[in-house]
Amino acid sequence: MSNYLIIKNKIKKFNKKILVSGDKSISIRWILLASLANGVSKAQNLLISEDVMAAISAVKKFGIKVNVKNNICEIYGKGIEGYRYQKNLTIDAKNSGTLGRLIMGFLVNTKNTIKMIGDKSLSKRDFKRVAEPLSKFGAKFKLTKNKYLPLTIKGTSNLKPIKFFEKRGSAQCKSALIFAGMRTNGTTVIKAKKSRNHTELLCKYLKLPIKVNKLKNYDLIKVKKIKKINKLNYKIPSDISSAAFFIVLTALSKKSRLLIKSVNINPSRSGIIKILKKMGIKIKLKNKKIYKGEKNADIEIKSSKKISAINCPTSLNTSAIDEFLLIFLVAAKAKGISYFKDISELNQKESPRLIWGSKILNSIGIKTVVSKNSIKIFGEPNIKINKKIIIKNFLKDHRVFMTCVIAALTFGGEWKIYDKDSINTSFPNFLKIIKKLKK
Ligand code: S3P
Repeated sequence: MSNYLIIKNKIKKFNKKILVSGDKSISIRWILLASLANGVSKAQNLLISEDVMAAISAVKKFGIKVNVKNNICEIYGKGIEGYRYQKNLTIDAKNSGTLGRLIMGFLVNTKNTIKMIGDKSLSKRDFKRVAEPLSKFGAKFKLTKNKYLPLTIKGTSNLKPIKFFEKRGSAQCKSALIFAGMRTNGTTVIKAKKSRNHTELLCKYLKLPIKVNKLKNYDLIKVKKIKKINKLNYKIPSDISSAAFFIVLTALSKKSRLLIKSVNINPSRSGIIKILKKMGIKIKLKNKKIYKGEKNADIEIKSSKKISAINCPTSLNTSAIDEFLLIFLVAAKAKGISYFKDISELNQKESPRLIWGSKILNSIGIKTVVSKNSIKIFGEPNIKINKKIIIKNFLKDHRVFMTCVIAALTFGGEWKIYDKDSINTSFPNFLKIIKKLKK
């Protein structure tokens, strides 16, 4: 079967209700915590995607039994010392930075050396940012060229608590440090630039000894040794990062309306909603609820005729970190020049997304000025594309593929977008939902 998608027509007006799949960050965190719990934990609406399956394969390698049927998952935890560390064990994080980095925090006490590998994209990403602080606890790491996968980790039973300042706003680093801090005698103190807080909320719900003091730009997190993790039954909410494709599709289409049911709108994740509202997009949150500390709501979006440019406040960057490619599309159709700064982290993702964002916009005739950590986008409210556009060689970055599909369906032109199977990383149902909107 061909691994590209051809799109020749814009989407026609629609008025529909959809459900997107479970949250990837929460799914992976749930798997990891449940694998160290006492007893059988059960999740409903787990995201069934390659990243999440990689997490399941990893915990199975440590002798943990897992059953998955449809999107229901049961994990048979054997307690916090329940992992079996065989000799010469290799875990494959595939495309998942979240799995690769978070599990390192779990493995600081391994008796045997463990090797971790990943796919081509993950092998280009920075693992030093986690290995360096984790080695302060006493674990030993060897990284390829001091920074990359494959890496090896050898833990110690004599872990020491640390004090660390996480300045990037990386939830993956923060979470790895929280997990490692739970293994030491003493208190680990992490001052962390604000980032998604699903790990903290899950730990709080599980009554684990973690305290979070919220300061203006940072959180001060204190973690103590844990004795036990109780089994955790959980209904995973829908992923705002998946909903985001359909929020932008609706906003940029004509005379359309969409309701996306039960989406996680945790403030540390929902920056896209705040940013798009500032740009004049019509979004309403309905039926708000709190589930185990996580805020969820139905999201209603309507087509927007007038879109304004934005000088995006940097305080919103981490809460929209995975949605910038889509936000750039909206800026392409805005009246005026939009400016996004302090976003160098985008080039640390599955592909260098700041560069790719600019490339995609340039290929459809939108002028950009891009630097290492910023982009200016010269919006064209009447953007029309009358040419063929080919998108390839983007390291199979799922979000690049899906963003280009949204661009093709809203701006027009004739698109050939390669690496269609990249959607399996995070959102295997993506094209099925598009089909539903076309009916
Ligand atoms: C994630 C954190 C973010 C995000 C990624 C998922 C997580 O990465 O981009 O898609 O689940 O913790 P960083 O921690 O590198 O910012």
